[in-house]
Amino acid sequence: MKILVIGASGTIGSKVVKALSDQHEVLKAGLSNGDVKVDISTPESIRDALDSIGPIDAIVCATGDVAFNAFEQLSREEWDKGINSRLMGQVNVTQIGAQYLNDGGSITLTSGIIADHPIPYGTSAATLNGAIHHFTKAAATELPRGIRLNTVSPTVVTESLDVYGDYFPGFHSIDAEDLSKSYIRSVLGIETGQIFRAYAGN
Ligand SMILES: NC(=O)c1ccc[n+]([C@@H]2O[C@H](COP(=O)([O-])OP(=O)(O)OC[C@H]3O[C@@H](n4cnc5c(N)ncnc54)[C@H](OP(=O)(O)O)[C@@H]3O)[C@@H](O)[C@H]2O)c1
Repeated sequence: MKILVIGASGTIGSKVVKALSDQHEVLKAGLSNGDVKVDISTPESIRDALDSIGPIDAIVCATGDVAFNAFEQLSREEWDKGINSRLMGQVNVTQIGAQYLNDGGSITLTSGIIADHPIPYGTSAATLNGAIHHFTKAAATELPRGIRLNTVSPTVVTESLDVYGDYFPGFHSIDAEDLSKSYIRSVLGIETGQIFRAYAGN
């Protein structure tokens, strides 16, 4: 399979790339690193990147910015950051990406545990992750040509605990390599419209 991984240099994306690379042709994409440069918050950038690649079998989106702040202080600009990247960035990756996918292809998005379990400063992330879940369920029913759509919703990643750990007291973390299995299940399996909640035990 020819698979595009957006966010390929990241904590999560790099393990997804590693897990897929043995048996598949993986194209690495990111904002400033990778084989292909793309900014998911800009539809033109998504289209340009996909034009440069041509037909593919799967897209994994392991990125999507969102702002963290106290609810009372969340500015419109901070809301827009997540709306344009976490939500509409991934919606656009799906809508535009589907046009470049071969029959029976797949799209895998990323949300996060905050959709189900609130944390301090997480209202924007919770709202937009939840929207991604509803989008996944609905859009999967309308995608043409057997194209599948799923979302992986990770708990905090063990390798990210130094940065985010204080915001997830008592939460179980998951190693990025273990988490990559949920992405593999989405890309290589047959399921669609699913949210793979990678947080058993939380
Ligand atoms: N880490 C966690 O604990 C955790 C838990 C739940 C959910 N998540 C979510 O999972 C996603 C990946 O997390 P991560 O920790 O792996 O992130 P990360 O290590 O910070 O890596 C981010 C990746 O996304 C790329 N990127 C950034 N902005 C982009 C844009 N506008 N367009 C395209 N690519 C862009 C970066 O590319 P460059 O290197 O080229 O800049 C990099 O490859 C994020 O949405 C995060 O919120 C993470």
